[in-house]
Amino acid sequence: MKLTISVIKADVGSIGGHIKPSQKLKDVVANFVYENGIKKGEVVDYYISSTGDDIAILMTHKKGALNDTIHKLAWDAFVEGTRVAKEQGLYGAGQDLLKDAFSGNVKGMGPAVAEMEIEERPNECFVLFAADKTDPGAYNLPFYLGFADPMYCAGLMLSPKMGKGFKFVIMDVAHTEGDRVIELSAPEDLYDIAALLRDNQRFVIEHIYSDSTGEIAASVSTTRLHNIAGKYTGKDDPVALVRVQGAFPATGEILAPFSIGHYVAGFMRGSHTGPLMPVKANSPISYFDGPPVVSAQAFSVKDGKLTEPADAFDQPFWDWVRDQVSQKALDIRRQGFSGCAMLPYSELEYGGIVEKMKKLDGKFKVRK
Ligand code: F6R
Ligand code: MG
Ligand code: MG
Repeated sequence: MKLTISVIKADVGSIGGHIKPSQKLKDVVANFVYENGIKKGEVVDYYISSTGDDIAILMTHKKGALNDTIHKLAWDAFVEGTRVAKEQGLYGAGQDLLKDAFSGNVKGMGPAVAEMEIEERPNECFVLFAADKTDPGAYNLPFYLGFADPMYCAGLMLSPKMGKGFKFVIMDVAHTEGDRVIELSAPEDLYDIAALLRDNQRFVIEHIYSDSTGEIAASVSTTRLHNIAGKYTGKDDPVALVRVQGAFPATGEILAPFSIGHYVAGFMRGSHTGPLMPVKANSPISYFDGPPVVSAQAFSVKDGKLTEPADAFDQPFWDWVRDQVSQKALDIRRQGFSGCAMLPYSELEYGGIVEKMKKLDGKFKVRK
């Protein structure tokens, strides 16, 4: 059976700054999807969760990727959520809805989207990743390791179903006139893949396919908000869907690289470097508007019907990882604004520094 899994995520307001959406906001979004999606037969199933200040709407349906009915449903749910966010005085109400009116699909309108149309396996399972206070390049390293490195993915050595490796579709997100993409396969093109993926702000994994079966394995939201708005309006807080088991990495193989807590762009004011902390679903944001976080919810699905999620980072092992990542966060924060603790000029979230530099420029004198 052909099934589409879509996750559409946005920040439309949160409590006490950028901490977490209110329960009422989540309830209103959920209820809207139920009334207009489930009851009208547009979607088969759905699940609402939050990560930091973002709400993710996960949906299963039969309409394929980039479907306007499905995208409009999510957009309208977020518009409804924004109404409640304003009513409650939530901070950043409607923040990620960058356009006034919906047109066609939500790509390029603010919300993050990851979708995949699959032939549902008899025991289909997948993981929904949602990250806050960072950008889509945050998935480059963990997905490279999980899909292409036998040091992390033992299945590349052990499973005959994974023997041919995986094809990476990588997008140049600096190219704003259209989607500029390249297809490279691991292991053949491993060094080329690494050469691109080291640059998290420019080259971003969009899709991954099994080279053994041709099936889609992963889908990542690649939107960069400042490329849409022409200026920085917030970090992009990416979502991703990854199919697991069988011809794909085992769930644990795709989770394992997140134990690194690698340094990513984002954190306070979207302008710093911080380690990516694996957190439980529905976790808030805290220290220095961070640290950057990622949640992982694993689902099984039958005829489009979702089980409840298994919260993959809600396990004692990850408490220890979180302690290590906290230490990394404190280590880099200790040097404040200096050097690599802050992002380069082009990635700073606030335009104010441009004005500041202009003013200072006029005060410079060249010594005779
Ligand atoms: C980062 C983020 C926060 C805000 C910060 C200041 O993505 O959302 O770090 O940038 O809290 O927010 P404003 O400028 O809205 O007061
Ligand atoms: Mg926010
Ligand atoms: Mg956010």
